[in-house]
Amino acid sequence: MKNPPERTDIYPSESLDDARILEIGNRLKAGETCVIPTETVYGLAANGLLSAAIQKIYTAKGRPADNPLILHVDSPQRVQAIVTDISDDAKTLMRTFWPGPLTLIFHKQAHVPDAVTGGLDSVAVRMPAHPLTLKLIQAADVPLAAPSANRSGRPSSTRFSHVYDDLNGRVDMIIDDGDSPIGIESTVVDCTGEHPAILRPGQIDQAALEMVLKKNVPYATHTHGAPKSPGVKYGHYQPKGDVELCLGEDAQVHAYLAAKEFDAKRRIIASLEWADQYPSLPVTPLGSIHDFNSIMKTLYATLRQMDDEKVETIYLVAHPSWPESLLDRMKKAANHHVKTFENEA
Ligand code: TXA
Ligand code: MG
Repeated sequence: MKNPPERTDIYPSESLDDARILEIGNRLKAGETCVIPTETVYGLAANGLLSAAIQKIYTAKGRPADNPLILHVDSPQRVQAIVTDISDDAKTLMRTFWPGPLTLIFHKQAHVPDAVTGGLDSVAVRMPAHPLTLKLIQAADVPLAAPSANRSGRPSSTRFSHVYDDLNGRVDMIIDDGDSPIGIESTVVDCTGEHPAILRPGQIDQAALEMVLKKNVPYATHTHGAPKSPGVKYGHYQPKGDVELCLGEDAQVHAYLAAKEFDAKRRIIASLEWADQYPSLPVTPLGSIHDFNSIMKTLYATLRQMDDEKVETIYLVAHPSWPESLLDRMKKAANHHVKTFENEA
């Protein structure tokens, strides 16, 4: 295995003119690694058709090699060169949601390296809604393999500082594009079977998929024989402290937490409204429950902030009615340590 790069070139996105984008694209094509912005989270990119380049991603992240990667494309046309067939449902989803935070799983062509797919005969593909990154893929003229740009097991990077802390000195290039607009990873939909199924919830939710396809789109865990997302078996999104996810009515969760003793090493993370309601408790607020996008945008940054502040016990307060994508990431952050409060009524 090659040693990590000796230094990392850092480019503020506003400094990138066409000549520089072409240069970065060429370096990516030749096998170097670059952290790229996307609309969901930052990605750690390499030439998706070059096994040696993809290997560098796993090394930089410390990621298990059987957890497959997403290939990022700049157009639906580029998908035809990597997959064997595109179902009518997949075509509808691409037409409706691309470019955007939706990843589709297809049967792969033989030349797509096992290093991308973890040895599976399927491949994940997404066209991100980020003009600079689309230009970079075009400049590289190959699909870019890119998992989230975090050390394995840590929350995905949604700020330049997260990328810098986790990967400076471990990758060849980093593009600094400020804060990620969405803040959680794309929805993943398996399109290899007769019936599409959701492998990972995201901002494009089940209702939106079902409305567009005019049929049920179940979660893969609910369908027989469908492949689960290989990533689900690994620990994900976990801060260093212990996280307990508290799910229930505000008053019930408050009664539970108010009985605890708090010091600098214990903290509650909750919505702005929850924090306002219970000012005597030490709450770090996420966004507003009237704007779940604001909660998605700050969740990972807040979890990392707990590490910076050396918080050892974190109570993450959510409500069962919140979007599936948020609850999914919060359950993972809590390593499935969930305290559910039954309705007393
Ligand atoms: O928003 C995103 O999707 C971000 C940005 C950078 O595009 N990327 C991202 O990649 O979240 P990553 O590697 O952290 O997550 C990819 C997910 C994993 O859960 C993986 O198991 C699943 O996609 N996946 C990849 N290839 C697959 C395949 N062939 N079959 C089933 N699941 C697959
Ligand atoms: Mg990830």
